[in-house]
Amino acid sequence: MAIGIGLIGMGVVGGGVARILRDREREFKDVRGLDLDIRKVAVRDLSKPRAIDLFPDRFTTNPMDVVADPTIQIVVEVMGGVDAAYDLVLAALQNGKDVVTANKALLAERGDSLFEAAVQNNVGLGFEASVCGGIPIIQTLSQGLVANDIQSLYGILNGTTNYILTRMTEAGADFDPMLKEAQDKGFAEADPTMDIDGTDAAQKLALLCRLAFRQRVSSGDILKEGISHITALDIDFARELGYTIKLLGIARVVGNRIEARVHPAFVPHHALLADIRNEFNAVEIVGSAVDAQVFYGKGAGELPTASAVVADLIAIAERRKAGLGPAGAPLAPLPEADLVPIGDIQTGSYCRLTVYDKPGVLAQVAALFAGENISIETVIQHGRSETEGGTVPLIMITHDAPEAAMQRAITRIGNLSAVTEKPQIIRILHP
Ligand code: NAP
Ligand code: HSE
Repeated sequence: MAIGIGLIGMGVVGGGVARILRDREREFKDVRGLDLDIRKVAVRDLSKPRAIDLFPDRFTTNPMDVVADPTIQIVVEVMGGVDAAYDLVLAALQNGKDVVTANKALLAERGDSLFEAAVQNNVGLGFEASVCGGIPIIQTLSQGLVANDIQSLYGILNGTTNYILTRMTEAGADFDPMLKEAQDKGFAEADPTMDIDGTDAAQKLALLCRLAFRQRVSSGDILKEGISHITALDIDFARELGYTIKLLGIARVVGNRIEARVHPAFVPHHALLADIRNEFNAVEIVGSAVDAQVFYGKGAGELPTASAVVADLIAIAERRKAGLGPAGAPLAPLPEADLVPIGDIQTGSYCRLTVYDKPGVLAQVAALFAGENISIETVIQHGRSETEGGTVPLIMITHDAPEAAMQRAITRIGNLSAVTEKPQIIRILHP
């Protein structure tokens, strides 16, 4: 018997899902005995051309039509946004339908009650596509690595920012046209500030923490910094010092606590993460039994993301066909994580100061670092200012220091009369 599928959204990801279901229809029927029938699709604009041909009466502008349709067993939410998507997904779960979603913002912000609703209604809530696009990272953490205590996760979790940083590094491109290119390729969120300011990566990291540590981490509690302040000068200095700049999501166990942070970082050239280019994502996971493993692939875009949605769809459809309930350990209720306070997080830093080129400036800066017990590893100043009384970049690399001490030192350094611009700080990854 056919299984009814309802799509809420047929944009970049929904279009990819529809294409894959059409192109692999025969294989899913013949090899897996699954007859998946798209019975309803909700969109905003009925006049837009769509990825596949469906009878016009299968389209609606009211997503509740999908959720309420008794002939639909699995709802795929690929619309995006939080509040409206929450109402729809909750209603679908309460109506006894399995749900597959690519919406990390929804799960990071309202996941608790949705995971709970899935448990209460004994239905599945698949979200493989919500983190790292086509990489099966959710499956890996929830099934493949269950024999491990996860000790750390280091990842490039956002395709848009990785694309922008790669092109700025390799082609000397400017930020704005590269953001536009990432948007045109369908990687970016509807509001690209979520990509640029690190929100998207923090939401993904919060979801990975739920699976890796079986604790609730709120994306709002994660130390978060985006990439909009990174300049061509920083990229050049990073290269000279043997690093590549990447936006990283990091979660690791420190004592009995979890440290979670998203920020641009100097990654040593020799580290694997330094070689992850364009829209690709990668996550390095250290588990107690397997030690280090790296997962790499396309983290965004139509077909990579749709591949993950379809993987969830097929897994759920197979369980439905066999008369089984949802697979895996329930993701609610979970205890709230005990996070390392942001001010206590320890990192080394690259500090780029713009200073007047005159005697005594270095001593003043060094004294303010010393006042916070921050030790300096390297100092670089190339040449002299070309004009009398002009400024030069002064680069200082510090040893590990607590975030709060670094912020206090930098505020004081920024207030020195010899420092003419806001100091630039980029944390350093010591793998
Ligand atoms: P998109 O291209 O903007 O598609 C959104 C779809 O939802 C469109 O078909 C739109 O209709 C429909 N829609 C929006 N609001 C609606 C409403 N109120 N009623 C009915 N239909 C509505 O977005 P996307 O890139 O596919 O992203 C979808 C989700 O996947 C988001 O949660 C995103 O975070 C997630 N995601 C995206 C990627 C990626 O690479 N793009 C990767 C991983 C996860 P119209 O077509 O008529 O406008
Ligand atoms: N905007 C996201 C990114 C899409 O660029 O990674 C994938 O979640």
